[in-house]
Amino acid sequence: MAENLVTAIFSMDIKDQIHTNLLPKHLAIIMDGNGRWAKQKGKLRVFGHQKGSEAVKQVVEGCAELGVKNLTLYAFSTENWNRPKLEVQMLMRLLISSLKKEIKTLLDNNIKLNAIGNLKDLPVKVYKELMDVIEITKSNTNLTLTLALSYGSRDELINAIKQISIKVKNNIISPEKIDESVINEHLYTQNLPDVDLLIRTSGEQRISNFLLWQIAYAELYFTNVFWPDFTKQHLYEAIVNYQKRERRFGKTSEQLS
Ligand code: IPE
Ligand code: IPE
Ligand code: MG
Repeated sequence: MAENLVTAIFSMDIKDQIHTNLLPKHLAIIMDGNGRWAKQKGKLRVFGHQKGSEAVKQVVEGCAELGVKNLTLYAFSTENWNRPKLEVQMLMRLLISSLKKEIKTLLDNNIKLNAIGNLKDLPVKVYKELMDVIEITKSNTNLTLTLALSYGSRDELINAIKQISIKVKNNIISPEKIDESVINEHLYTQNLPDVDLLIRTSGEQRISNFLLWQIAYAELYFTNVFWPDFTKQHLYEAIVNYQKRERRFGKTSEQLS
């Protein structure tokens, strides 16, 4: 009881420190540490993935409540296909059940689901479920939740270069006209703004082939918390930390004030 009270007071505190007019327009998260979390508890990795999907719900709701407009979650990388077959299978199954289970959360919070990555590589059942939920939520406007699935940034860039090359070959674009906006339009993230804040959990400090182009000027936030333990409070802490930073975009501090 007393502990609950302390938690409640603490949570009020940290949430109240957030300036809602300075929220990241696009928050991206590398949800890492499910396996180590489970191992620490003497359980199988898959148990960590299950717990991890519950953390997703917390963070998605947290973002919707705050008014963050775009949240992108790295759920499965192109490199993750190289994991043991059974783990990949379990992750795909979990994806289907989570999508089914969370339709209500998405609708209740006016959230639009989106997906980026080499989606055609997903098992048909996953792909279908994903497309169904995207269709059902397509008119929602509060938050765009993008799942990066079978996503690799290099794969995305190769895909963009191929598409642009074909257009150049067919005289649809002239090479001189290729600029940042042309590249942006050919990425999976074409309708999303640049990432403002990138969070990675679990203590690893690397990007692991995630949104390389889109994080060019993102603020990076690393936390040791394993993903299954990540709560709304951790989200608030990351945003408060982000809001204290000075984003100079190459200018001097004096120029900004
Ligand atoms: C992140 O947790 C989830 C996925 C990559 C699918 P991990 O499974 O990478 O957990 P660790 O890094 O092995 O602890
Ligand atoms: C990155 O995590 C991919 C996801 C979180 C989905 P990994 O655990 O696969 O990354 P590395 O291999 O440790 O860099
Ligand atoms: Mg990992």
